[in-house]
Amino acid sequence: MNPEQGRAVTDNRLENDMRYLTFALTKGRLARKTMALLEEIGIFCEEMRDPDTRKLIFVNEDLKLKFFLAKGPDVPTYVEYGAADIGVVGEDTIMEEGRKIYEVLDLGFGRCRMCVAGPKEAQKLLNGQEQIRVATKYPKIARDYFNDQKNQTVEIIKLNGSIELAPIVGLAEVIVDIVETGSTLKENGLTVLEEVCPLSARVVVNPVSMRMENARITKLLNDMNEALNK
Ligand code: PRP
Repeated sequence: MNPEQGRAVTDNRLENDMRYLTFALTKGRLARKTMALLEEIGIFCEEMRDPDTRKLIFVNEDLKLKFFLAKGPDVPTYVEYGAADIGVVGEDTIMEEGRKIYEVLDLGFGRCRMCVAGPKEAQKLLNGQEQIRVATKYPKIARDYFNDQKNQTVEIIKLNGSIELAPIVGLAEVIVDIVETGSTLKENGLTVLEEVCPLSARVVVNPVSMRMENARITKLLNDMNEALNK
C-alpha cells in the first residue's frame, strides 16, 4: 500500500467513525426556516421537504446529520438530556423551560414580543398594588415578571392555548402571551398593556456535545451566522 492509499483508508475510516450530530427542530415554521438557512450553507435533507410526510426523524448520511421534529417545549428537554446535540427553539420556550443548555445563536427569525395584554381598562390594575389573575402558557415567565420586575403579587393561571379567551370570559384580568402581528389581540378587543421582552428563534447546544464535537458544531454555527449576515 502506498502512502496515498494509506491516507485514503484512514480518511475513510475517520469518516465512517464520525458520529451523527442530531438536531431537534421545533415542528412547523421554525423547522422550515431552519432548513432553508441550512440549505444556504450546503446542508440538505431531501426527505424533509415532503409536505405530506408523517416521519419524525430524517437523516443526511453523507454529512452524518440527523434531524427530528418536536414540539417547542420539548426541544430544550431533548437537548439537555443529549438526545439531540443541537436544538432550534423560540427564546420564550428557553426562558420558560430553564434547562441546562447553551444558547449559542440568535437566528433573527421568529421575531415576536412577550407581552402583558388585556382590555385597555385593565391598565390601571398593573400598578403593582392589585391582586389580579394572569392567564398564560408561560407561568414561569409571568411569575418572574410580576414578582421580580413589578413586585406585584398575582395569581397565575396556566392555560394551554387560545389565551386571549381568558380576559374575555372573565377567567383572568390580563394575559401574558406572545404577540407577533397583534391581530389576535385586535380581533378580540384586547391590547398590549406592557412589554415583557422581545423574542426570536435561538440555536441551543448540549454542553457535553459542545465539548466533544466542538470543531463540527463551531463550524456549523459560524457558517449559519455568516449566512444570516449575508
Ligand atoms: C400565538 C399566541 C397568540 C398569537 C399571536 O398563538 O399565543 O395567540 O399566536 O400572534 P399574532 O400577534 O400574530 O396574532 P398560537 O397561534 O401559537 O396558538 P395558541 O393560542 O393555541 O397557543
